[in-house]
Amino acid sequence: MAESMQGLKRSHRCGELSAANVQETVTIMGWVQKNRNKGGLVFVDVRDRSGIIQVVFEEGRTDKALLEKAAGLKAEYVVAVVGTVERRSGAVNENLSTGEIEVVPLELRILSESETPPFPIEENAKTREEVRLKYRYLDLRRPDLQRNLMLRSKVATLVRQFLSEEGFLEIETPMLGKSTPEGARDYLVPSRIHPGSFYGLPQSPQLYKQLLMCSGYDRYFQIAKCFRDEDLRADRQPEFTQIDMELSFVDVEDVIDVNERMLAKLFKETLNVDVPLPIPRMTWQEAMDRFGSDKPDIRFGMELTDVTEVVRECGFGVFTGAIENGGSVRGINAKGQGAMPRKKIDKLTSFVKDYGAKGLAYVAIQEDGSVKSSFAKFLSEAEMNGLIQAMNGEPGDLLLFAADKNKVVWDSLGALRLELAKQLELLDKNEYKFLWITEFPLLEWSEEQNRYTAMHHPFTMPMEEDLDLLDKEPGKVRAKAYDIVLNGNEIGGGSVRIFQDNVQEKMFEVLGFTKEQAYSQFGFLLDAFKYGVPPHAGLAYGLDRLVMLMAKEDSIRDVIAFPKVKDASCLMTEAPSVVDEKQLEELGLERAKEKE
Ligand code: AMO
Ligand code: AMP
Repeated sequence: MAESMQGLKRSHRCGELSAANVQETVTIMGWVQKNRNKGGLVFVDVRDRSGIIQVVFEEGRTDKALLEKAAGLKAEYVVAVVGTVERRSGAVNENLSTGEIEVVPLELRILSESETPPFPIEENAKTREEVRLKYRYLDLRRPDLQRNLMLRSKVATLVRQFLSEEGFLEIETPMLGKSTPEGARDYLVPSRIHPGSFYGLPQSPQLYKQLLMCSGYDRYFQIAKCFRDEDLRADRQPEFTQIDMELSFVDVEDVIDVNERMLAKLFKETLNVDVPLPIPRMTWQEAMDRFGSDKPDIRFGMELTDVTEVVRECGFGVFTGAIENGGSVRGINAKGQGAMPRKKIDKLTSFVKDYGAKGLAYVAIQEDGSVKSSFAKFLSEAEMNGLIQAMNGEPGDLLLFAADKNKVVWDSLGALRLELAKQLELLDKNEYKFLWITEFPLLEWSEEQNRYTAMHHPFTMPMEEDLDLLDKEPGKVRAKAYDIVLNGNEIGGGSVRIFQDNVQEKMFEVLGFTKEQAYSQFGFLLDAFKYGVPPHAGLAYGLDRLVMLMAKEDSIRDVIAFPKVKDASCLMTEAPSVVDEKQLEELGLERAKEKE
């Protein structure tokens, strides 16, 4: 039976107590972690989000009724304990921050009872994630998730503090906005008052923050919910949170400067990690050439080598064919992996096929200097030696090559590099390697849509020195865009924006928008730009990804209180759900007939 809290007031959180509180009378409230009954001696661990404290009920010392009550406690009961803090009579528990002390009770109240939970509430529980997500409210009691959400809260607080001090204003922008299907797919909200019309949930506050610059707010930030209907992965949720900012009268350097200082503060004050400033920078081209990725993990080497020129004239059709088709041949040297079994190499070959590669050619240099290779028979000895030399191959090394269009070669070797690093355990989660990627291509060719699309978004400024190319070779134009990368994750990205009519018009033209189409989607922004627009630039972080890395987790689900699973559903609330016919009717919607 539940007792009331009346007359009691919590004096401390469990984990806040220490030897400094010895002899004090305290009141703690929390959940029973466990209860060990040794006959006449009952140890009860009480847990709250700060930690665990041991309460000792002992025959002779504790009132008999109280002892019996304690013996009846079960896991996850909610209790209040009034008692005196004492040094432990038994052994000190080194694993607990409160391990030197215990509470000797004067009063025990059972505030509520609990059924046996479907899984134990403890750190690193091995419970299946589906079960944890169905009972997320219990999962969230576990110390690891509590630590993650406390860290997340601290990051948000520090961001607000830092940006406010830097003269940024926190301004909210609408969730119910206009659907602008450039980018990912929008989530739509039907309008009741305007049947057949829909709001789009924001993929980011991009247009609003640019308008705020037009309105003179100068420096804006927001911790903003964003919605994108795209395929989900460990680092992608349909709704996620950005630390979003925009600044007026600035260029790339200013944005980078304020963000480097913010990152340094965040890492120092949450993890006591020093971020050496300035953060290194790399152009997109260099990142692709060296790492096959626009978000390279620079915690380890194993860089790509372009061997196109070395094999251009060789006898291996796979290589020369790719080169003739305008592609390249590149390789990575997996140092010391020359003895890798054939089966494992085959596995790597099917791994790269997921990234579009047609195969993975290899040279395994044996300790005696001889080679095992899938294509040696097509090369003369001199050609093979030249290739090995170009790859800095030494006895014991494994050289892996991909030949294809640049994009396929980069994607597959970039992914292979990471896969090998994982297998060889080269990645240290305690190491934080930041990197700015700059000078992104402005546009990328979409085979699907048979037109250029904006690599970042249509408001991103081309680099001044490339403006002339916009007409002639749009694919070669570089943008004033930058991403901030941490340990191979894109944690943020942004750009300097176009603020000149003629450049914006040209950009829409290259993207294949007619003037009318551009106006019907972005008219309000284009109009706003007619009335005095300051040069401006901005950036947005994925807060979830940032906190995931800080918390050393592998999925953003572990730093989001109520995340969704791969099919974008919530296992706890079972959203999305079918709604009443009446609700549909009000919205002027009809359920689609099920396909035969
Ligand atoms: P961008 O689209 O690069 O830029 O998004 C910024 C950052 O948000 C994070 N992110 C995500 N996190 C979790 N789940 C997702 N589905 C998801 N999608 C993106 C990434 C990414 O770097 N308006 C621009 C910013 C600007 O130009 O100022 C924007 O949204 O960490
Ligand atoms: P094949 O000629 O198909 O027997 O291939 C010989 C070797 O080249 C095998 O190790 C294949 O995995 C590899 N290979 C095939 N296509 C490619 C490619 N596009 N790039 C790199 N290696 C390839």
